[in-house]
Amino acid sequence: MSPKSVYITRLIPESGVALLTGAGFAVKMNPLARPMRRAEFLEEAGRHAAMICQVSDTIDRDLLQAAAPNCKIVALCAVGFDNVDLAAARELGVVVTNTPDVLTEATADLTWALLLATARRLGEAERCVRAGAWRGWGMLDFLGADVHGRTLGIVGAGRIGTAVARRARGFDMSVLYCARDAKGPIEALGATKAPLGELLRKSDFISLHVPLTPHTHHLIDERALGEMKSTAILINTSRGAVVDQVALIDSLRRGRIAGAGLDVYDKEPVIPQALLDMENVVLLPHIGSATSATRAKMAEIAAANAIAVLHGQQPLNPVQP
Ligand code: GLV
Repeated sequence: MSPKSVYITRLIPESGVALLTGAGFAVKMNPLARPMRRAEFLEEAGRHAAMICQVSDTIDRDLLQAAAPNCKIVALCAVGFDNVDLAAARELGVVVTNTPDVLTEATADLTWALLLATARRLGEAERCVRAGAWRGWGMLDFLGADVHGRTLGIVGAGRIGTAVARRARGFDMSVLYCARDAKGPIEALGATKAPLGELLRKSDFISLHVPLTPHTHHLIDERALGEMKSTAILINTSRGAVVDQVALIDSLRRGRIAGAGLDVYDKEPVIPQALLDMENVVLLPHIGSATSATRAKMAEIAAANAIAVLHGQQPLNPVQP
């Protein structure tokens, strides 16, 4: 292993690679348009001084043991870090960093795209047009739900939840939020704190913005889904396992809620056929932060974190468990 070698597990924007090579590091990158297979990942892990990783990589104890002691840093190109065993990383002396802030606005934009698409049945309408099945304007065709003036419930009032709430002002919505403590920034936008049960009962749209932790795993379960209005629409751009996917499918099937817009799933990239078959569900392939400018910034920050640690400096964005 070379102390100057950095491994990148998926193709990333060129500007991130250029920072690494410009700082004198040798870069090896998985050239394939798929996540690394486990055996490949374990084999590469110990050969490099740093790894730039993605949400699609599982960085568990075995992987970290294979990586340490040569690998000094796992620099994630993501804000979420539920795919990393942080306790093992700490024990093994591997620094873990993420890319907060730069993806907040792009992810909030995508959340709104998904909310609007689900409320106004855009997926279904577009499929009709593309299939050549549109027979002309119809008064009763593709009737969706109003968004303006309705109530938006935001679960998790961190950076992204707050950015989603800011956009709701343009739609004259009432915003409820649920978080452990009162949050000044979202309240400054006019949002009102409510316990989860009340938020679920009162909201027309419920958007999830919590990190995945043991506490938030299946936060939206059968009981929570049962509290929602039958006209409610659930939007998830956080992590799939925040929702009990089986319970969600059941609720949608039984008309317990009206629809769902999902960017994330339990076992990505697997999506249950039941969801694929439903017209009242909009399904995206985990693209919350996927704009050219945002992804470039994420790659650059991940590279800057790796360079700092390999130069013996403090990381810019150490992950706090
Ligand atoms: C994407 O899901 C991220 O955590 O950045």
